[in-house]
Amino acid sequence: MKKGLLIAFEGIDGTGKTSLAIMLKKRFEALSFTIEIFKEPTNITEAGKKIRESYVNDRPSLETELQWFLEDRGWDVEHRILPALEEKKIVFMDRYFFSTACYQGVRNNNDWESILNTNRDKFPEPDLTIIFDLDVKVAIQRIVKDRSKINTFEGQQYLQQVRDLFLEIYNNDQVGNYFLIDSEQSIEDIVEILYNLIHGLIKKEVLVDEEELKEENKIDT
Ligand code: TYD
Repeated sequence: MKKGLLIAFEGIDGTGKTSLAIMLKKRFEALSFTIEIFKEPTNITEAGKKIRESYVNDRPSLETELQWFLEDRGWDVEHRILPALEEKKIVFMDRYFFSTACYQGVRNNNDWESILNTNRDKFPEPDLTIIFDLDVKVAIQRIVKDRSKINTFEGQQYLQQVRDLFLEIYNNDQVGNYFLIDSEQSIEDIVEILYNLIHGLIKKEVLVDEEELKEENKIDT
Protein backbone atom coordinates (compact mmCIF):
# COMPACT_ATOMS: atom_id res chain seq x y z
CA MET A 1 0.00 0.00 0.00
CA LYS A 2 1.19 3.49 -0.83
CA LYS A 3 -0.10 4.91 2.42
CA GLY A 4 -2.06 3.29 5.20
CA LEU A 5 -5.80 3.09 5.48
CA LEU A 6 -7.90 5.22 7.81
CA ILE A 7 -11.15 3.62 8.92
CA ALA A 8 -13.56 5.30 11.34
CA PHE A 9 -15.88 3.29 13.59
CA GLU A 10 -18.85 5.49 14.40
CA GLY A 11 -22.31 5.34 15.93
CA ILE A 12 -24.10 5.75 19.24
CA ASP A 13 -22.89 4.22 22.50
CA GLY A 14 -23.73 0.56 23.03
CA THR A 15 -23.32 -0.52 19.40
CA GLY A 16 -20.18 -2.56 20.15
CA LYS A 17 -17.64 -0.52 18.19
CA THR A 18 -14.78 -1.10 20.60
CA SER A 19 -15.18 -4.91 20.81
CA LEU A 20 -15.60 -5.18 17.05
CA ALA A 21 -12.49 -3.11 16.38
CA ILE A 22 -10.49 -5.46 18.62
CA MET A 23 -11.93 -8.60 16.98
CA LEU A 24 -11.20 -7.26 13.49
CA LYS A 25 -7.68 -6.24 14.51
CA LYS A 26 -7.00 -9.86 15.53
CA ARG A 27 -8.34 -11.19 12.22
CA PHE A 28 -6.14 -8.87 10.19
CA GLU A 29 -3.07 -9.36 12.33
CA ALA A 30 -3.36 -13.09 11.65
CA LEU A 31 -2.75 -12.10 8.01
CA SER A 32 0.31 -10.05 9.06
CA PHE A 33 -1.25 -6.62 8.67
CA THR A 34 -0.47 -4.03 11.31
CA ILE A 35 -3.54 -2.45 12.82
CA GLU A 36 -3.61 0.46 15.25
CA ILE A 37 -6.74 1.28 17.22
CA PHE A 38 -6.97 4.87 18.47
CA LYS A 39 -9.82 5.94 20.70
CA GLU A 40 -11.26 9.46 20.90
CA PRO A 41 -11.59 11.37 23.09
CA THR A 42 -8.08 10.38 24.15
CA ASN A 43 -7.10 9.96 27.74
CA ILE A 44 -3.79 11.65 26.98
CA THR A 45 -4.26 15.36 26.27
CA GLU A 46 -5.45 17.94 28.79
CA ALA A 47 -8.48 18.54 26.56
CA GLY A 48 -9.27 14.81 26.40
CA LYS A 49 -9.05 14.55 30.16
CA LYS A 50 -11.36 17.53 30.61
CA ILE A 51 -13.89 15.91 28.25
CA ARG A 52 -13.80 12.66 30.20
CA GLU A 53 -14.27 14.52 33.49
CA SER A 54 -17.25 16.34 32.01
CA TYR A 55 -19.07 13.00 31.46
CA VAL A 56 -19.51 12.60 35.17
CA ASN A 57 -19.80 16.28 36.03
CA ASP A 58 -21.59 18.92 33.98
CA ARG A 59 -21.02 19.44 30.32
CA PRO A 60 -19.48 22.82 29.39
CA SER A 61 -20.92 25.19 26.78
CA LEU A 62 -21.08 23.90 23.22
CA GLU A 63 -18.23 26.22 22.17
CA THR A 64 -15.94 24.93 24.91
CA GLU A 65 -16.87 21.32 24.23
CA LEU A 66 -16.15 21.71 20.50
CA GLN A 67 -12.86 23.41 21.30
CA TRP A 68 -11.80 20.52 23.56
CA PHE A 69 -12.64 17.88 20.94
CA LEU A 70 -10.74 19.82 18.24
CA GLU A 71 -7.70 20.25 20.48
CA ASP A 72 -7.71 16.59 21.45
CA ARG A 73 -8.12 15.46 17.83
CA GLY A 74 -5.41 17.87 16.66
CA TRP A 75 -2.97 16.14 18.96
CA ASP A 76 -4.21 12.70 17.91
CA VAL A 77 -3.89 13.40 14.19
CA GLU A 78 -0.40 14.86 14.51
CA HIS A 79 1.10 12.37 16.96
CA ARG A 80 -0.65 9.08 16.30
CA ILE A 81 -2.80 9.01 13.15
CA LEU A 82 -0.56 10.61 10.51
CA PRO A 83 2.63 8.83 11.69
CA ALA A 84 0.82 5.46 11.59
CA LEU A 85 -0.51 6.15 8.08
CA GLU A 86 2.97 7.17 6.96
CA GLU A 87 4.17 3.76 8.15
CA LYS A 88 1.47 2.18 5.94
CA LYS A 89 -0.48 0.89 8.89
CA ILE A 90 -4.22 0.38 8.97
CA VAL A 91 -5.76 2.71 11.52
CA PHE A 92 -9.10 1.97 13.16
CA MET A 93 -10.54 5.07 14.83
CA ASP A 94 -12.82 4.19 17.73
CA ARG A 95 -14.78 7.42 17.12
CA TYR A 96 -13.60 10.33 14.99
CA PHE A 97 -15.06 13.60 13.76
CA PHE A 98 -18.45 12.14 12.81
CA SER A 99 -19.08 11.71 16.55
CA THR A 100 -18.42 15.43 17.00
CA ALA A 101 -20.78 16.22 14.11
CA CYS A 102 -23.56 14.21 15.78
CA TYR A 103 -23.06 14.45 19.56
CA GLN A 104 -22.19 18.16 19.43
CA GLY A 105 -24.43 18.63 16.36
CA VAL A 106 -27.51 17.98 18.49
CA ARG A 107 -26.46 20.92 20.66
CA ASN A 108 -25.76 22.96 17.51
CA ASN A 109 -29.42 23.01 16.30
CA ASN A 110 -28.72 19.75 14.47
CA ASP A 111 -26.25 21.51 12.19
CA TRP A 112 -23.83 18.63 11.61
CA GLU A 113 -22.61 20.04 8.33
CA SER A 114 -20.71 23.03 9.70
CA ILE A 115 -19.02 20.79 12.30
CA LEU A 116 -17.98 18.31 9.60
CA ASN A 117 -16.61 21.17 7.49
CA THR A 118 -14.56 22.58 10.37
CA ASN A 119 -13.08 19.15 11.03
CA ARG A 120 -12.46 18.42 7.36
CA ASP A 121 -10.47 21.66 7.05
CA LYS A 122 -8.04 20.34 9.66
CA PHE A 123 -8.08 16.55 9.69
CA PRO A 124 -7.80 13.72 7.14
CA GLU A 125 -10.96 12.16 5.71
CA PRO A 126 -11.22 8.42 6.42
CA ASP A 127 -11.02 6.02 3.49
CA LEU A 128 -14.06 4.34 5.02
CA THR A 129 -16.50 5.36 7.75
CA ILE A 130 -18.53 2.55 9.26
CA ILE A 131 -21.70 3.72 10.99
CA PHE A 132 -22.99 1.22 13.54
CA ASP A 133 -26.75 1.66 13.73
CA LEU A 134 -28.95 0.39 16.53
CA ASP A 135 -32.33 1.03 18.14
CA VAL A 136 -31.69 3.39 21.06
CA LYS A 137 -33.62 1.27 23.59
CA VAL A 138 -31.52 -1.77 22.71
CA ALA A 139 -28.34 0.33 22.92
CA ILE A 140 -29.23 1.58 26.39
CA GLN A 141 -30.03 -1.95 27.60
CA ARG A 142 -26.56 -3.02 26.48
CA ILE A 143 -24.86 -0.02 28.13
CA VAL A 144 -26.62 -0.62 31.43
CA LYS A 145 -25.78 -4.34 31.32
CA ASP A 146 -22.09 -3.61 30.68
CA ARG A 147 -21.50 -0.72 33.00
CA SER A 148 -24.47 -0.43 35.35
CA LYS A 149 -24.12 3.35 35.01
CA ILE A 150 -24.70 5.65 32.07
CA ASN A 151 -22.82 8.91 31.51
CA THR A 152 -24.21 12.35 30.69
CA PHE A 153 -23.92 11.63 26.95
CA GLU A 154 -26.24 8.68 27.14
CA GLY A 155 -29.79 9.82 27.93
CA GLN A 156 -32.38 8.11 25.72
CA GLN A 157 -33.77 11.25 24.10
CA TYR A 158 -30.31 12.64 23.40
CA LEU A 159 -29.04 9.36 21.95
CA GLN A 160 -32.12 9.19 19.70
CA GLN A 161 -31.25 12.63 18.31
CA VAL A 162 -27.61 11.59 17.89
CA ARG A 163 -28.65 8.41 16.05
CA ASP A 164 -30.91 10.47 13.76
CA LEU A 165 -27.96 12.73 12.89
CA PHE A 166 -25.73 9.75 12.07
CA LEU A 167 -28.45 8.54 9.68
CA GLU A 168 -28.83 12.03 8.23
CA ILE A 169 -25.10 12.18 7.50
CA TYR A 170 -25.22 8.69 5.96
CA ASN A 171 -28.11 9.71 3.71
CA ASN A 172 -26.98 13.21 2.77
CA ASP A 173 -23.24 13.77 3.05
CA GLN A 174 -21.60 13.62 -0.38
CA VAL A 175 -17.97 13.60 0.76
CA GLY A 176 -17.51 10.58 3.01
CA ASN A 177 -17.33 6.92 2.00
CA TYR A 178 -19.90 5.36 4.33
CA PHE A 179 -21.03 1.86 5.19
CA LEU A 180 -24.06 1.47 7.45
CA ILE A 181 -24.21 -1.69 9.53
CA ASP A 182 -27.23 -3.01 11.41
CA SER A 183 -25.80 -3.64 14.88
CA GLU A 184 -28.68 -5.83 15.93
CA GLN A 185 -27.10 -8.71 13.98
CA SER A 186 -24.89 -11.21 15.79
CA ILE A 187 -21.36 -10.07 16.50
CA GLU A 188 -20.03 -12.99 14.38
CA ASP A 189 -22.08 -11.84 11.37
CA ILE A 190 -20.92 -8.25 11.79
CA VAL A 191 -17.26 -9.31 12.01
CA GLU A 192 -17.65 -11.35 8.83
CA ILE A 193 -19.28 -8.51 6.89
CA LEU A 194 -16.73 -5.93 8.01
CA TYR A 195 -13.79 -8.27 7.54
CA ASN A 196 -14.80 -8.80 3.89
CA LEU A 197 -15.44 -5.10 3.38
CA ILE A 198 -12.09 -3.98 4.78
CA HIS A 199 -10.22 -6.79 3.07
CA GLY A 200 -11.72 -5.66 -0.24
CA LEU A 201 -10.54 -2.12 0.44
CA ILE A 202 -7.01 -3.30 1.22
CA LYS A 203 -6.88 -5.35 -1.98
CA LYS A 204 -8.14 -2.39 -4.00
CA GLU A 205 -5.41 -0.14 -2.57
CA VAL A 206 -2.71 -2.71 -3.29
CA LEU A 207 -3.97 -3.22 -6.85
CA VAL A 208 -4.03 0.52 -7.53
CA ASP A 209 -0.47 0.77 -6.34
CA GLU A 210 0.67 -2.14 -8.49
CA GLU A 211 -0.80 -0.39 -11.52
CA GLU A 212 0.98 2.81 -10.55
CA LEU A 213 4.19 0.90 -10.10
CA LYS A 214 3.92 -0.53 -13.61
CA GLU A 215 3.31 2.97 -14.98
CA GLU A 216 6.36 4.30 -13.16
CA ASN A 217 8.47 1.45 -14.49
CA LYS A 218 7.31 2.20 -18.03
CA ILE A 219 8.40 5.79 -17.69
CA ASP A 220 11.77 4.74 -16.26
CA THR A 221 12.61 2.36 -19.11
P1 TYD B 1 -17.07 6.15 24.27
O1 TYD B 1 -16.63 5.58 22.98
O2 TYD B 1 -18.37 5.70 24.82
O3 TYD B 1 -15.91 6.02 25.34
P2 TYD B 1 -15.92 5.18 26.69
O4 TYD B 1 -16.19 3.77 26.29
O5 TYD B 1 -14.51 5.39 27.20
O6 TYD B 1 -16.97 5.79 27.57
O7 TYD B 1 -17.10 7.73 24.02
C1 TYD B 1 -17.27 8.62 25.02
C2 TYD B 1 -18.36 9.63 24.74
O8 TYD B 1 -17.83 10.78 24.06
C3 TYD B 1 -19.48 9.12 23.88
O9 TYD B 1 -20.68 9.10 24.66
C4 TYD B 1 -19.61 10.12 22.77
C5 TYD B 1 -18.81 11.30 23.20
N1 TYD B 1 -18.14 12.00 22.07
C6 TYD B 1 -18.62 13.24 21.67
O10 TYD B 1 -19.60 13.75 22.23
N2 TYD B 1 -17.99 13.90 20.64
C7 TYD B 1 -16.90 13.39 20.02
O11 TYD B 1 -16.34 14.03 19.10
C8 TYD B 1 -16.41 12.11 20.45
C9 TYD B 1 -15.19 11.53 19.81
C10 TYD B 1 -17.05 11.45 21.49
